[in-house]
Amino acid sequence: MTEPVLDVHLTPEDAAVALRAEARAGLTAYPKWVSPKWFYDAVGSRLFEEITRLPEYYPTRAEREILLERAAEVAATTGAHALVELGSGSSEKTRLLLSALRDQGSLREFVPLDVSSSALVEAARAILADYPGLHVHGVVGDFTEHLDLLPGTSPRLVAFLGGTIGNLIPEERAKFLSSVRDVLDGGEWLLLGTDLVKDPDVLVRAYDDARGVTAEFNRNVLRVLDRELDADFDPDDFAHVALWNAEEEWIEMRLRAVRPVKAHVAALGLDVTFAEGEELRTEVSAKFRREGVERELGAAGFELHRWWTDAEGRFALSLARAAA
Ligand SMILES: C[S@@+](CC[C@H](N)C(=O)[O-])C[C@H]1O[C@@H](n2cnc3c(N)ncnc32)[C@H](O)[C@@H]1O
Repeated sequence: MTEPVLDVHLTPEDAAVALRAEARAGLTAYPKWVSPKWFYDAVGSRLFEEITRLPEYYPTRAEREILLERAAEVAATTGAHALVELGSGSSEKTRLLLSALRDQGSLREFVPLDVSSSALVEAARAILADYPGLHVHGVVGDFTEHLDLLPGTSPRLVAFLGGTIGNLIPEERAKFLSSVRDVLDGGEWLLLGTDLVKDPDVLVRAYDDARGVTAEFNRNVLRVLDRELDADFDPDDFAHVALWNAEEEWIEMRLRAVRPVKAHVAALGLDVTFAEGEELRTEVSAKFRREGVERELGAAGFELHRWWTDAEGRFALSLARAAA
């Protein structure tokens, strides 16, 4: 079978260096934190796919509903030759865009980019098998660092789905959106998925499901630290916490020590202590309103061309054009 082309901008060694630097900064800070990008080893990527199928986790279904209805319009509007997908994961929903672009005859190339090489390679192979003749050019990389190295023939459509942009805090989002704009030519396109502000109970349930899959996903970051940094965190010492921060309008995921914890992180020569009840912040997931998305896109040099939501108004897709 033909293999997808793969560029590796983030080698396991690069990732190890970055993880060491971030873990030292985050575990010695107060409050303590780790970046959500470390959730996605092979186990974490599989757990995320399980989350997308949970009854409480509406964002994937809502975004799929919009794509089912609007993919043909996205294809006709953009006429894209290359579809670039950031934080692509399994690229499942992306197939709706690929099929629409193929059916109208413009699609030549698919460029998925993800930090998780296992998820990326699996998805790239599956897409290559199902879209014969498509040039699939995967990139193992960090979307906050490696955008200037992206391949793809113009006109390009960059898709950033799943509400992943909400994992960035506002300053990071501004920098990220500007860097996406910088790599695009005027007139090229961004399709951005954003989860919307809604009833906090619905939001919290989406991040704290009855079966405990999200709790496992959250605790998996401790397993990543144990394996990659030769640490001895016991995931059972921590409880999963998901809460709505009404002021920031974001969900916070945290791990709360259920007893006093003393862990050794051998690769950093670091002892880390948690008092009982002390928390490690692992993810924020910002929720949006139309005005905010339009403002942030505008500040980065994009014009909002279309704004679509699912029938229940839970999730939005924005199609934006890079200003000339
Ligand atoms: C919330 S999941 C969304 C996956 C998929 N796009 C979807 O809509 O279902 C976030 C994805 O982004 C990837 N990711 C997280 N941080 C990243 C980063 N800094 N650079 C590249 N990929 C990242 C993860 O590996 C994961 O596949």
